[in-house]
Amino acid sequence: MLLDVKGLRVSYRTVYGNLEAIKKVDLSIEKGESVAVVGESGCGKSTFGHAIVRLLPPNAKYEGKVNLDGKDVLALKGHELRAYRGNDVFMIFQDPLNSLNPVKRVDVQMLEAVEMRERVAGRGYDETKAYKDIVEGLTGVRMPDPEVILRRYPHELSGGQIQRVVIAMALVMKPKLLIADEPTSALDVTIQAQVMKLIGGLKKEYGMSVLFITHDMAVAYTVADKFLVMYAGELSELGPVDKVVSTPLHPYTVALVNSIPNKSRRDGELVSIPGSPPNMISPPPGCRFNPRCPKVMDICRIESPEAREKDERMVRCHLYD
Ligand SMILES: Nc1ncnc2c1ncn2[C@@H]1O[C@H](COP(=O)(O)OP(=O)(O)OP(=O)(O)O)[C@@H](O)[C@H]1O
Ligand code: SF4
Ligand SMILES: [Mg+2]
Repeated sequence: MLLDVKGLRVSYRTVYGNLEAIKKVDLSIEKGESVAVVGESGCGKSTFGHAIVRLLPPNAKYEGKVNLDGKDVLALKGHELRAYRGNDVFMIFQDPLNSLNPVKRVDVQMLEAVEMRERVAGRGYDETKAYKDIVEGLTGVRMPDPEVILRRYPHELSGGQIQRVVIAMALVMKPKLLIADEPTSALDVTIQAQVMKLIGGLKKEYGMSVLFITHDMAVAYTVADKFLVMYAGELSELGPVDKVVSTPLHPYTVALVNSIPNKSRRDGELVSIPGSPPNMISPPPGCRFNPRCPKVMDICRIESPEAREKDERMVRCHLYD
């Protein structure tokens, strides 16, 4: 097993009170496996990714266990933590501007990252080879004029160009686990599928494990082996994509699957889920999905369900108690 997350909880301190953004989520990822975290906006997908790379803001508190290839991630400090980020794990952020240092030219920061990786691995650093790898990485993400782009500062690039630089960086760094938070949202529709394919290729070619974060079930379906469906910070369902899509168990997963654009639905209308996710500072008691659930029972308004194993999956719903 490469990644093992057990009982992860993350809460944010806010002026309105404590916001429990992740409530006891478990997930394991094998080497070469890809998992997609799916769910509506605000359900805690990015928080989950940031916790794994240890990049939560100062108002966040976390508990639980995160183990990556034998490393106790939540206990890493100083140099170990810097070496962990970039070498063991690499994150493509949802907001491309967060990914690059604004005061350094693109070539300088990409070379620095490669140098750091080589030193941590105890290998010699060859700048000419590193530069060649970076140009190849940029060519791999279909970046026109890579050498011109490399001489620019981040503010001289468009959002789509920055996102391609960051994905190229992942191609060059080859981390054990790549976390891609909505990696194509800043890109043109025409290049989105190509980029998803490239990331999928990393998995095949280098045995890299990938954690995709997306609200788009259709995109996730094409690239992931497993789905982690989250609702309001909780694991709703976790299992192989085919099982989850063909026979979803949790009523929220059923609703998400029904919202996947269907070729047979000629009017192109998406079925949206009635209602909206709860206020996370004072979520409803019991199951957090209960105000929107078509299968709600009395117990759902009182007691929060535990995650249980059912039909090759984990599901958190009183229907399966
Ligand atoms: N720094 C922060 N301080 C306080 N609350 C935060 C912070 N970051 C996120 N949150 C809250 O935590 C919850 C989860 O947010 P998160 O960004 O993880 O969701 P998400 O699933 O990635 O959403 P999206 O699809 O919109 O990117 C939300 O209610 C959000 O408002
Ligand atoms: S626990 Fe109850 S409210 Fe929650 S998803 Fe299951 S049936 Fe619906
Ligand atoms: Mg997000």
